[in-house]
Amino acid sequence: MKKIVWLCPPLMAALAAWIFTLLGFTLWTAVLIALLLVCPGVIFYGIVKVFRHPRGLSPETLPTRGMPLDVLAPIYDRYCPMIGLGRAFRRQTIRYAGLNVGESVLDIGCGTGVLTRLAADSVGPAGRVTGIDPAAKMIEVARKNAIEEGSRAEFRLGVAEALDFEDNRFDCVLSSAMLHHLPPDLKDKCLSEALRVLKPGGRLVLVDVDRPTNKAWWVVLWPLLFWPFTEAQVKGRIGEMMLESGFSRAERVGGWGGGLLGFWKALK
Ligand SMILES: C[S@@+](CC[C@H](N)C(=O)[O-])C[C@H]1O[C@@H](n2cnc3c(N)ncnc32)[C@H](O)[C@@H]1O
Repeated sequence: MKKIVWLCPPLMAALAAWIFTLLGFTLWTAVLIALLLVCPGVIFYGIVKVFRHPRGLSPETLPTRGMPLDVLAPIYDRYCPMIGLGRAFRRQTIRYAGLNVGESVLDIGCGTGVLTRLAADSVGPAGRVTGIDPAAKMIEVARKNAIEEGSRAEFRLGVAEALDFEDNRFDCVLSSAMLHHLPPDLKDKCLSEALRVLKPGGRLVLVDVDRPTNKAWWVVLWPLLFWPFTEAQVKGRIGEMMLESGFSRAERVGGWGGGLLGFWKALK
């Protein structure tokens, strides 16, 4: 079975090249276009395989059908700015959250806690900010960063699909680049859980892979249409999912990265 899977990309490339020659392209142009089309699929498949490999997970990492990112924890803080998710992106998320002094905030899938620490600065000593993540290595880095920066943000192991907090606890729930780490049923559970832990009138501010507003993205993003973790998101269903989970309003308030990521705000 494994051998058949590995044969798929070259067969697909050969088939695509043949179709392009039939369409009138020269052989080398046809091969080039075929490789460009097939490569994103192969690269994407490789990335998912590495992240989901059990050897990449720490023994303390919580069990989840999501995709914990232990593997990236040591390089995550250097890697994010390289792909355009630096300080400006975090500040934009905080602006959409509109945090006030004294508020209580939960950051679901906090990773190394960059956003969590900024949120803690915004709510001040009277507020309280907690970041959760199933990846033990991410939480370890997040705690170390918080100590180094003297941040009041707190970090603990947790999963989005079963939040270990009482009902009506938070003024604001944040989720940044986490939703695409969950399979479809866990996305629904995560949104219902976010709703449950929010106070009446509380808000969820979520930023994640969305239907790209710049169509050029489809050249590399097409594999996401075939992966259950991202399919609904790239088809533009985030707002619908929020409303189906019980939020009273859901609005796309902005985009990032040429419209690849969408900022969403939903009200309880
Ligand atoms: C791309 S990172 C984003 C981290 C951080 N929020 C940021 O904006 O940089 C996605 C995070 O989601 C976490 N994650 C994966 N499965 C999860 C789950 N079931 N519940 C909560 N977080 C999860 C991963 O461990 C990872 O840290």
